[in-house]
Amino acid sequence: MSDTVLLTGATGQVGAALLPHLLSAPETRVLALIRAKNAEHLATRLAELRRDLPGGDRLDAVAGDVTLPDLGLSATDRARVDADVTSLLHSAAAVSFDLPEAEAMRQNVGGTEAMLAIGRRLAERGRLRRMDHVSTCYIAGRRTGRVLETEIDVGQSFRNTYEQTKCRSELRVQASGLPISVHRPSIVVGSSKTGATRAFNVLYWPLKIYTRGWWRTFPGRPETPVDVVPVDWLAHAIAKIRAQPETIGKTFHLAAGEAAPSVAEMEKLIRGITGGPALRYVHPGFYRYFVRPLLWPLRLTRRGSRIFRGGNVYLAYFGQNPVFDTSNARAALGQAGGAPPVAEYFETVLKYAMEKGFAGATPG
Ligand SMILES: NC(=O)c1ccc[n+]([C@@H]2O[C@H](COP(=O)([O-])OP(=O)(O)OC[C@H]3O[C@@H](n4cnc5c(N)ncnc54)[C@H](OP(=O)(O)O)[C@@H]3O)[C@@H](O)[C@H]2O)c1
Repeated sequence: MSDTVLLTGATGQVGAALLPHLLSAPETRVLALIRAKNAEHLATRLAELRRDLPGGDRLDAVAGDVTLPDLGLSATDRARVDADVTSLLHSAAAVSFDLPEAEAMRQNVGGTEAMLAIGRRLAERGRLRRMDHVSTCYIAGRRTGRVLETEIDVGQSFRNTYEQTKCRSELRVQASGLPISVHRPSIVVGSSKTGATRAFNVLYWPLKIYTRGWWRTFPGRPETPVDVVPVDWLAHAIAKIRAQPETIGKTFHLAAGEAAPSVAEMEKLIRGITGGPALRYVHPGFYRYFVRPLLWPLRLTRRGSRIFRGGNVYLAYFGQNPVFDTSNARAALGQAGGAPPVAEYFETVLKYAMEKGFAGATPG
């Protein structure tokens, strides 16, 4: 059955990885909503996505921005969406952890609401087959223990405005009553086959600091689980889930779950790859209140201020994490369809990042 997917976030880490999976079905067309300054910019961005993309002739693009009314679509593009689109895949988000709350709300909750409005319009016309919403496991915020796919807001607190606004977005999705599946990836790293990534954030930040020998004292707990998935597996999983009508109305933890390694296990793996020295662990609370204030003068250097900023943003993910239950994901993907063990692909991911110099790895 022919399907035209309106995809947001196609130029991002997850969206770009989704394209070959979506287009592998010959009856599927993708209409990407892409931010562009003008028609020429849109054409350049589309051409970059089409390069070496099997089925790329079935990928087209419209200029838009999820924070604008009606996605900022021109009248012609809006008519095209109404006439052609049969499903929605919302992957666009502001993934910075340190945006002011109002801006994170505008981007993430506002963006989700704008896509829901399109969904409602298509549903009223009997055209909407399904919508897929890309969320994050970390809507769980500061929770510990086991987190279920059926849970959203259980009164948890959040580490940052990203988690908070992604959680609020899910609540809006749930209240919409539209035929939606929610996909919650854990921490996404590059391709398990090539290491390639479009974004060097979250896990890449401590990897960069460690491999460059800038920092060997780690404010984290060695036993904390670190849930990581490679982007190629994630894209395959989202595509497989959205191909199954019975997944509508369900949420999926696209995560390593029980198999997630601990911080200490990750350290061992990384040392095995790089031959680097052992880390000294310091309790995150002790670091925050006693060590970090003493290191304040380091901020006066460019590198020091980057390390401080990245530390504030990312280190929170190495002191306390829950275990993500993956029951729905296992049922949809099969027992053998889970995330690959990190030890199988991490050398590829790390070596790619080191070769590229972690370009863009740290904020600022
Ligand atoms: N990466 C992870 O570790 C991770 C983990 C869990 C969940 N997720 C979720 O996965 C999804 C995709 O994340 P990602 O890693 O692919 O992020 P990313 O690489 O930063 O890409 C973000 C994408 O969203 C687009 N975008 C942002 N704001 C937009 C706006 N106002 N209007 C239209 N497009 C906009 C960006 O377009 P431009 O190219 O124009 O900037 C880009 O295509 C997000 O929903 C995120 O919350 C990611």
